[in-house]
Amino acid sequence: MTSPSSKVTRYLTGITTTGTPHLGNYVGSVRPSVQASLRSDVQSYYFLADYHALIKCDEPARIQRSTLEIAATWLACGLDPQRVTFYRQSDIPEIPELTWLLTCVSAKGMLNRAHAYKAAVDKNVARGEDPDSDVSAGLFMYPVLMAADIVMFNAHKVPVGRDQAQHLEMARDVAQRFNHLYGEHFVLPEAEIDDAVALLPGLDGRKMSKSYDNTIPLFTPRPQLQKLIAGIVTDSRAPGEPKDTEGSALFQIYQAFASNEETEALRRAFADGIAWGDAKQMLFERIDQEIAPKRERYEALMADPSQIETILLAGAEKARTISQPFMSRLRQAVGLRSLATGAKAAAGKNTKVPKASKAGFKQYRERDGLFYFKLQDEQGSTLLQSRGFKTPQEAGRVIGGMQQTPGDFVNSYADLLEPVDNQTALSAVKVLEALANPTGDQ
Ligand code: TRP
Repeated sequence: MTSPSSKVTRYLTGITTTGTPHLGNYVGSVRPSVQASLRSDVQSYYFLADYHALIKCDEPARIQRSTLEIAATWLACGLDPQRVTFYRQSDIPEIPELTWLLTCVSAKGMLNRAHAYKAAVDKNVARGEDPDSDVSAGLFMYPVLMAADIVMFNAHKVPVGRDQAQHLEMARDVAQRFNHLYGEHFVLPEAEIDDAVALLPGLDGRKMSKSYDNTIPLFTPRPQLQKLIAGIVTDSRAPGEPKDTEGSALFQIYQAFASNEETEALRRAFADGIAWGDAKQMLFERIDQEIAPKRERYEALMADPSQIETILLAGAEKARTISQPFMSRLRQAVGLRSLATGAKAAAGKNTKVPKASKAGFKQYRERDGLFYFKLQDEQGSTLLQSRGFKTPQEAGRVIGGMQQTPGDFVNSYADLLEPVDNQTALSAVKVLEALANPTGDQ
């Protein structure tokens, strides 16, 4: 169930649905992620973080449009929804539900230190405004929602940019705190920050980013792509003059798409004084060669949004086969429980909830110096109680014998056990049988 087969590593990542994917997103995230999703030792979860989008965007049409564009982009770039779990965050009602449980174990002081929130406060203070001016509680809670995204699927690895490293630390922190209070439910996730993945420069040479307004949209039509590339800043060296590859945005973008040999060829062309116009034409053709077939798929997908909707709903259904049962286990763990099943011993206010106590034998030594065992059911109630043995080995032999002949222990071992009623004996047989023949569940 939650203890996954140990050889698979679960990767999970979310993409906030506020913008149109650009070449930087493609090189830094989409392309490597799609490649990673093809590995057989990896289980991947990709989702459209539209709840996160609400934190920074109050334009409904833009959120819807961006969700469509990002979904179409991932599919056009080869993400296989059969192979991975690809879903929209807001289709998983267990996410906000878990967010609340985690909110209740998140230290406010920790959230005060979150970079994005702190930056907003610092900006207000610097301007002499109220520290919380224009700061929503959503921004403040951002790291908890993100933690819920991650631990809901017990992801081991979360590929993110360096700017998200703190959020991963917080997710670990919150998961750890929850585990400490309520038992080992969550894997502690790790950030996977790949510094080898080049940060693509934008049109002006700074990092390609929406906030610098220097991006090249990934699937802009061919003529626009050519026009945008023509606008990449270069220096004023004339044709025939040798050019520097160092610090050249054009060269760096080319490198992100080209093979080593192609890159070396362009390096020589720079040294030989290629004209900027010709270099730009080379870059344009090289990018278009990789993007054109994907652009075609993208356009087909964008023309049929209901197809994407169907894919996302199927993804949500797949995701919920995990999130629904897991959430009911978590509700149980924190005490949001059916009253019909009876309240469990609620002694003392700080009673620790026992760790999902498995049915089985417990051996112990009493003050009389003798060795005892008892058989417990899943809830930890005692079904059978042994008499005292002089050595732990003797007790162990009896336990072994009982497990070999579950149906027969009452006759064989009656004199070594405290008497039990029929009902309890039947329950004991069931537990013994389960122990002798464990299902794949545990
Ligand atoms: N905060 C991430 C970003 O802005 C998006 C995100 C939301 C995310 N939930 C996540 C990333 C969970 C990884 C895992 O890039």
